[in-house]
Amino acid sequence: MTETGTLPPLACDLDGRRVVIVGGGSGFGLATARAVVARGGSVTLMGRTADKLAAAARALDAPDRVAVHPLDMTDGAAVAGYFAGIEEGAVDHLVVTASTAAHGPFLELPEEAARAMFDSKFWGPYALARAALPRIADGGSITFFSGVLSRRPGMNCSALGAVNAAVEGLTRGLALELGPRIRVNCCAPGMARTEAYARMPEDRREAMYRATGASLPVQRVGQAHEVADAVLFLMTNTFTTGVVLDVDGGHMIRQYAQR
Ligand SMILES: NC(=O)c1ccc[n+]([C@@H]2O[C@H](COP(=O)([O-])OP(=O)(O)OC[C@H]3O[C@@H](n4cnc5c(N)ncnc54)[C@H](OP(=O)(O)O)[C@@H]3O)[C@@H](O)[C@H]2O)c1
Repeated sequence: MTETGTLPPLACDLDGRRVVIVGGGSGFGLATARAVVARGGSVTLMGRTADKLAAAARALDAPDRVAVHPLDMTDGAAVAGYFAGIEEGAVDHLVVTASTAAHGPFLELPEEAARAMFDSKFWGPYALARAALPRIADGGSITFFSGVLSRRPGMNCSALGAVNAAVEGLTRGLALELGPRIRVNCCAPGMARTEAYARMPEDRREAMYRATGASLPVQRVGQAHEVADAVLFLMTNTFTTGVVLDVDGGHMIRQYAQR
């Protein structure tokens, strides 16, 4: 019961809510879209590849509640143009899962690759938030994505850890500045089976999943729908803002040595 004695709205009620998901063509973005549509919301999926978005929309099988808009979030003019072209209050929630990841030993990873990753994973969400803000309805939210590497570094991932930390810093600063009108949170996943690893040879990918899973309290890597559940919570819980939510199977507390 609320203080006034009425029942609060159901948690995770997305009926009629409009969610823009940048990165919605695959992985956590598509899983989030599936969860939103299943709860009565509508989604606009964005990403750079029109065919991928079209396939994702077909998979969601709800043509009246799924729109696609091909867009590269590193193209500031395209980002500004999209949001300038829709009405004020036309979006309830913005979710940004899109990113580029660059790995490599510090001295071997070209600096341009690290800079390109910041252009994507930090400046992309930054530009999206700036452009989207006037269009997000009061009471809406923004959810960014970082990852466990922000606080538990991995070998050959120093720049990726740094960009994740930058996204988390942006989350906290914006949450303070944009409240109470809009809440801002960040999901920090651990390793999960998504298309992000699709280009790895299958045997290497499965070996990586096994090795990572074996180091975690839950003894396995994650699945996209488990991360989408967390995004739904961040989107809809009206008392949660400025939070970095680890959805990582216990990666933050994992053992260094094998069991
Ligand atoms: N999966 C994991 O194990 C894991 C672990 C920790 C953190 N994360 C983080 O979680 C987030 C989502 O990962 P995921 O596994 O869902 O990856 P994913 O399946 O590769 O999805 C990322 C999506 O973003 C889109 N995208 C990439 N660059 C874009 C751009 N410049 N503009 C617009 N769209 C763009 C991609 O489509 P196009 O290429 O067609 O644009 C793709 O559909 C990322 O930030 C990732 O770093 C993932």
